[in-house]
Amino acid sequence: MSSLLDIRDLSVSFRTDEGLVRAVDHVSLSIPRGAVFGLVGESGCGKTVTAMSILRLIPSPPGQVDSGSILFKGQDLLRLPIAELRRLRGRAISVIFQEPMTALSPLHRIGDQLAETLHVHESISAAAARDTARDWLGKVGIPDPIDCLQAYPFQLSGGMRQRVMIAMALMLQPELIIADEPTTALDVTIQAQILDLLREMKRQDTSVLLITHDMGVIWEMCDHMAVMYASEVVESGTVQDLFRAPQHPYTAALLASVPALGRPRERLTPIPGQVPSPLQYPAGCRFRLRCRHAFDRCTAHPPLYPSTAGASRCFLREAVAPSTPPREGPLPRGQHQSP
Ligand SMILES: Nc1ncnc2c1ncn2[C@@H]1O[C@H](COP(=O)(O)OP(=O)(O)OP(=O)(O)O)[C@@H](O)[C@H]1O
Ligand SMILES: [Mg+2]
Repeated sequence: MSSLLDIRDLSVSFRTDEGLVRAVDHVSLSIPRGAVFGLVGESGCGKTVTAMSILRLIPSPPGQVDSGSILFKGQDLLRLPIAELRRLRGRAISVIFQEPMTALSPLHRIGDQLAETLHVHESISAAAARDTARDWLGKVGIPDPIDCLQAYPFQLSGGMRQRVMIAMALMLQPELIIADEPTTALDVTIQAQILDLLREMKRQDTSVLLITHDMGVIWEMCDHMAVMYASEVVESGTVQDLFRAPQHPYTAALLASVPALGRPRERLTPIPGQVPSPLQYPAGCRFRLRCRHAFDRCTAHPPLYPSTAGASRCFLREAVAPSTPPREGPLPRGQHQSP
């Protein structure tokens, strides 16, 4: 599968009163065409900043892209003239963020906003735009699409606004959807409906970058994934490989800290210790102070070692034999293999 989006060596920092926050540190990711790519990691590890960098939405100042390139169909988005980038936004690449108010104008009715989005990108009659908008509101689970067209954003609940934003993002059938915790604010039934929609988009060859804290969602939705820790990618590969035989101790710990799929009431194993501050990461492996496998070597900074279909940033990979044969389904909790 060829890549639709290639993030290469991306570094982003923020100047703050406390000092320089290294939010994204030499991150590389490759999203194949038609794939759903999952990005996970604890809060603050740089997932949203990575996603926002793709469409150059990092506020500057205080933010700054320090290095890297983001190739979309071979074109570097970080160096594209802004007018060309605007043409891609919404049409070829659309974004669903955690906070829907940032994407909706408070001053205009939902129907007008959706129709306007359609008009900007397609030559379509007013009546057809309205019909399309109404259909999409129905698809994202809005019970009264016609009433919703008339409403202003403030008249809708947070969950409804989120669904409107999702409709707006999917409506133009983009080639890439960046979805940052798209369903966190929604109840489980609607969540399932939205995930079904994303699956349907995937069948039509749309690629999705899906950011989520929910490993269950990753398992159900994604083909490939990357795990971020303290601003870096620490492991990447296929979802099957990472769930069955995680190569990095952080991935293993992350899998052990979520309920086993289908067994939600089981006791979880939290990861001891705290994520280090992005103002000052420890020298060497950034996970070593929380890692039960840490050894002398970990005071140096580990490179990414290639694994079956990805890579792992851990010195244990230097000496370890290939992973055990795959098994069916995700491993039960507590049986994730540690390196
Ligand atoms: N505008 C900003 N100014 C200063 N620091 C920022 C800004 N935006 C993000 N950061 C910092 O960048 C780092 C990465 O943040 P980011 O939002 O990407 O985390 P995340 O992985 O998306 O977390 P979460 O899971 O909580 O959404 C954090 O330390 C955050 O405080
Ligand atoms: Mg985030």
